[in-house]
Amino acid sequence: MEFHVYDNARAACEAAGALIMAQITRKGDSVLGLATGSTPIPAYEKLVGWHKEGILSFEHVRTFNLDEYVGIDYANPLSYHAFMEEHLFSKVNLKRKNIHLPDGHSATECQAYDRMIYEAGGIDLQLLGIGRNGHIGFNEPGKEFVYGTHIVTLAESTIEANARFFKSPDEVPRQAVSMGIGTIMSARCVVLVATGKEKADAVYNMIHGPITPEVPCSILQLHPCCVVLTDREAAGRMEA
Ligand code: GLP
Repeated sequence: MEFHVYDNARAACEAAGALIMAQITRKGDSVLGLATGSTPIPAYEKLVGWHKEGILSFEHVRTFNLDEYVGIDYANPLSYHAFMEEHLFSKVNLKRKNIHLPDGHSATECQAYDRMIYEAGGIDLQLLGIGRNGHIGFNEPGKEFVYGTHIVTLAESTIEANARFFKSPDEVPRQAVSMGIGTIMSARCVVLVATGKEKADAVYNMIHGPITPEVPCSILQLHPCCVVLTDREAAGRMEA
């Protein structure tokens, strides 16, 4: 696992954008695994900027998002579909047919999502944020790692953390559909961005803790190509 600390959150996230840019430059038809949350926004801003400057084309890029809430209208600005439209899809030349988000609510639909990723040749670069409790995608702490795309019941701490986007915690969906740990681990390269002091414990446990489904991100210790980018706050316990 590679670990890089930046002076501030924006720099860490922009560095993730640079790695995605390099990936697409090397392989024009890259398969990207994309993430939502407030963390990756500066990475998307950089990619949009490079696209507008004419030095980055998404014409042949294919994308698969990590997760989506269950029971939320995709037109709702708080859905992950709407998030991706706002921050990336509507601003670059991705082809509609090459954009995928998990939206299945049944096991069969979840399996179909994994099959689409497999048939696309697998994910070249998976962008990840991290939950305060160490979740990646919406793989919440639990008794076992779940391999494929699946329906998840959100942890109370995740509902609390994500309530800041909603009018009240009651409005946060209780379930989500998420890529599984196996799908994430199958990506050829993983780029995880963590910023802010509330992520410091998760970052420390991811890198120095035991590998356990109680801290889902800890599995990344076994990934052959995982780059972790943080600001000073999220690296707070690493430097202690
Ligand atoms: C959500 C998403 C995760 C994301 C996490 C952190 O729970 N499912 O993919 O990493 O939030 O979000 P933020 O970047 O806003 O802290």
